[in-house]
Amino acid sequence: MSLLPSLAGSLAYGGDYNPEQWPESVWPEDARLMQTAGVNLVSVGIFAWSRIQKTPTSWDFTWLDRVFDLLHEHGVRVCLATATASPPPWMARLYPDSLPVTAEGVTLHLGARQQFSPCSPDYRRHAAALVRRLGRRYAKHPALAAWHVGNEHACHMNECHGPHSVVAFRAWLKSRYKTIDALNAAWGCAFWSQLYASWDEIHTPRRAPFISNPAQQLDFKRFTSDAFLDLYKMERDILREVSPGVPVTTNLMAFFKPLDYHAWAREMDFTAWDSYPDPALPDEGRHWAAVGHDLTRSLKPGLPFIQMEAATSAVNWRALNRPKPAGLMRLQSLQALARGADGVMFFQWRASLSGAEKYHSAMVSHIDPARCRIHAEVARVGAELKKLAPLAGSTVRARVAIVMDWHAWWALELEARPVKLDYMATLHAVHRAFYEQNLATDFVHPEADLSAYALVVAPVLYLLTEAGAKNLASFAARGGTLLATYATGIVDGQERVVPGGYPGLLRDTLGIWVEEWLPLGDRFANTLSFTGKKPSARRAASTDALACREWTESVHVEDAEVLATFTADLIAGRPALTRRTVGKKGKALYLATGLDAAGWTRLAALAAAEAGVAPVLAASAEVEVSLRESADGARHLFVLNHRHAPVSVSMDKLRGRDLLTDRPVARTLALPALGAAVIRLD
Ligand code: GLA
Repeated sequence: MSLLPSLAGSLAYGGDYNPEQWPESVWPEDARLMQTAGVNLVSVGIFAWSRIQKTPTSWDFTWLDRVFDLLHEHGVRVCLATATASPPPWMARLYPDSLPVTAEGVTLHLGARQQFSPCSPDYRRHAAALVRRLGRRYAKHPALAAWHVGNEHACHMNECHGPHSVVAFRAWLKSRYKTIDALNAAWGCAFWSQLYASWDEIHTPRRAPFISNPAQQLDFKRFTSDAFLDLYKMERDILREVSPGVPVTTNLMAFFKPLDYHAWAREMDFTAWDSYPDPALPDEGRHWAAVGHDLTRSLKPGLPFIQMEAATSAVNWRALNRPKPAGLMRLQSLQALARGADGVMFFQWRASLSGAEKYHSAMVSHIDPARCRIHAEVARVGAELKKLAPLAGSTVRARVAIVMDWHAWWALELEARPVKLDYMATLHAVHRAFYEQNLATDFVHPEADLSAYALVVAPVLYLLTEAGAKNLASFAARGGTLLATYATGIVDGQERVVPGGYPGLLRDTLGIWVEEWLPLGDRFANTLSFTGKKPSARRAASTDALACREWTESVHVEDAEVLATFTADLIAGRPALTRRTVGKKGKALYLATGLDAAGWTRLAALAAAEAGVAPVLAASAEVEVSLRESADGARHLFVLNHRHAPVSVSMDKLRGRDLLTDRPVARTLALPALGAAVIRLD
């Protein structure tokens, strides 16, 4: 299935195009250069609202008509933005209460972008009118390929405490709880004298003297994600009405805490994200991009996604903005494809001469494209993407899933915990352990269909609903291997402890219960030592001791084998890793501690061995291998050399033809520094 029918089976290639920032005399050169660079898709109009509607009553689409026609003549399709990401100055002048307000009560003013509250009725009314006009005007234009709603929703302004948000929060709570008594019970308001008598006593969790009610904070995070999503849906529904059949998307930001992208993805026709790994941290950057691609792909199972933005070289918004060495942008583009993208796009086409982003790299920089190494690489990637068109519509089929839930993230990181836990750091560490061994992983919601997986890992899944717990339990009961870690299944969906021994909701499945937590912080240490009774565990864990990090627990076993024990502290000799056999083939493992990178690598290998999952091709460090599979059975193997030195990769029994060189690949594959092969397997 093609993500964008109008691209007729090609991969998408291009970037944000902001012609409104340039004299019209520049546009023909843009279109010509796009054509020679292999660009076939550009995102237009993202920040063009004030150019389209300079005053509430004056509209000008004529310039955009000319842009559409020019691009169309040059074979470039348009992903048209709804332009709602940055309202014109008149919005703040006419409707000052449309501006967002922070938890401290500070109003965020005009002068940058995103200066609106998602709950402002005036903003929403004007945004709806704009989207309707855009939709009607361009629905039938042959260059239109997709709709791009807003831009990086909530990126800078990710919660609002203004008057309209307070009213909307109350309405959201009313529809969730129906009665004020139910809300009092759900929030545990008997604690610290917080019992509410009426809805209008309730506020967004503004800055308070001490720890705010955690359930209130959690509901506010849910409400905020829903409020932004509601705005997206308002625009999307208008587009579906006036421009039926044209796919609608927006650019996500992968692990972006304020928005529950599981809920968002359900409302999107395909997912897209903006990938900005830091060139100053090449090793972290390599994994940072991979994990973001994997999440974005997982959000819409079975479908490719689009890398909607990336930098061709340096960005402008870090404290230190290093350029990408020659070849890295190309390798990162291929990495996006390797992990399931059907398109590679950049911010932006032509580097600005003024404004806040003029020192951000682009596809056309401040110098003559004919003399610019970045532009030469841009054109090379454009030409290569044409050769890779057979990938379109295919995807990565992982056998390992990592459970990830925004609600668990929000709840875990509220205040007053045994120690400050970092959900993202743990998730990234777990993912990285599989990634470095070229074991493909998806990220899944706790209540998702798990039937495609052999191994499901649930790291620090602090909040778990009953439905989520049942889903994980039945995955193991059906023969899957489940690995749950410390701080999982502690509270229910309302952030209430499930009593009787942690993890209340998974106790029976895991066959253990936890009496007390012993967080480590920086001052305490422990190690985990394998008991050696289980040969498979021993094989995968090549050393007997792993360093504990962050957290340990005092575990009681009820119905499980002990694979490893703690060596020190108040829990010396007590279980650290357990395994319960579930039904005939199922396994439920429990890890009662955090680990360092080496430890996670061992644990990932152990869990993969328990589940019988192996990489498609074993390769040395920093050689990334990923497989894309199509419905018709075609299989494309990506081999990416992230090293700044050549490598030789043994192909084992795999054979095929490299689409980039059009040469057969035999026993060994030689790749130059930052080199890559995309092999259509025989
Ligand atoms: C984000 C935005 C773009 C631009 C880039 C710069 O991705 O969506 O408009 O600001 O960052 O890196």
